[in-house]
Amino acid sequence: MALYKLLRTFAFALDAETAHRATIATLSLAPSLPLPSFAPELAQRLAGLEFPSPVGLAAGFDKDGEVPDAMLGLGFGFVEVGTITPKPQAGNPKPRLFRLKEDHAVINRMGFNNGGQSAALDRLKRRQRRGILGVNIGANKDSTDRIADYAAGVKLMSPVADYLTVNISSPNTPGLRNLQAGGELVELLAAVREARLPGIPVFLKVAPDLEEGDHERIVRAAIDTGIDALIVSNTTISRPTLKSPQAKEAGGLSGRPLKQLALEQLKKFRSASGGQITLIAAGGIENADDAWERIRAGASLVQLYSAMVYEGPGLARRIADDLSTRLSRAGMANIAEAIG
Ligand SMILES: Cc1cc2nc3c(=O)[nH]c(=O)nc-3n(C[C@H](O)[C@H](O)[C@H](O)COP(=O)(O)O)c2cc1C
Repeated sequence: MALYKLLRTFAFALDAETAHRATIATLSLAPSLPLPSFAPELAQRLAGLEFPSPVGLAAGFDKDGEVPDAMLGLGFGFVEVGTITPKPQAGNPKPRLFRLKEDHAVINRMGFNNGGQSAALDRLKRRQRRGILGVNIGANKDSTDRIADYAAGVKLMSPVADYLTVNISSPNTPGLRNLQAGGELVELLAAVREARLPGIPVFLKVAPDLEEGDHERIVRAAIDTGIDALIVSNTTISRPTLKSPQAKEAGGLSGRPLKQLALEQLKKFRSASGGQITLIAAGGIENADDAWERIRAGASLVQLYSAMVYEGPGLARRIADDLSTRLSRAGMANIAEAIG
């Protein structure tokens, strides 16, 4: 943590995207660490996969799948790369990534900048498979058939993924979140069902900016089409009161100010599903209290990104260790007993 604080001083002197790029470049040169071992009571089998720890890395940090093994080595129980679209795309004009230091938050309007699925496929094929790798897929901004983009992504990326995430909740691709609406969602998920390979779980990632009735409808569509889990949630377009000067930047807000909203949304999905579909929590998780609260509210797994910017990559490991202490204190033999 002391070393990270020192590195953070240098990183925070750079603009956020340059610092991020430098971090990925450094991690990609680092020798690969062995997979860490976790307390056995943290292990769970979900969607046919053995998760050694419930604390994962959320999508968007490693958009092109350049450093999943470094992140697994640093103590994440699973790592989700992406969002990756069928064709490469540049994303929005810079600046498009903002640290809101006073709020422990981030605003981004990256717009799915990525090198495209075939480049990521080649890269991920070269890795030695170990640990759990999720591949998060999206649609190109200029696509004339977004549903076809998701079906193509599911098919193409399955051979290198332990699970796939269908991301229809980014606020930075105009109109993308319309795919969460009734008819479109059913059509999309039916196309994904057709395209998917047996044995590769598919998760659906949703936005936190939903209305009454959306939760029931999304849960029904997901269960009817065999989706294995819901990730709740992506960044928010809402703006709670913020202190930082960048508060008015357009884009998706993440980190501490998203915490309450993401928790509320998780609870709504839990009550809409009654435990019939696995839930994965994301949004403002920055310590073991937050992770525990989400697990108690019905999440089987948690993911984080923004808090890592402030606390360093060792955070995942610290949260996992703290969760195992809480389990012993609560007299529980496995993390699964704490869910919901
Ligand atoms: C810079 C940045 C880029 C992101 N890019 C993606 C993305 O490409 N796909 C995606 O599904 N989520 C993306 N996210 C959302 C995160 O995966 C996560 O859902 C959200 O940030 C809430 O978690 P947090 O508060 O721990 O950051 C991004 C978040 C940030 C901060």
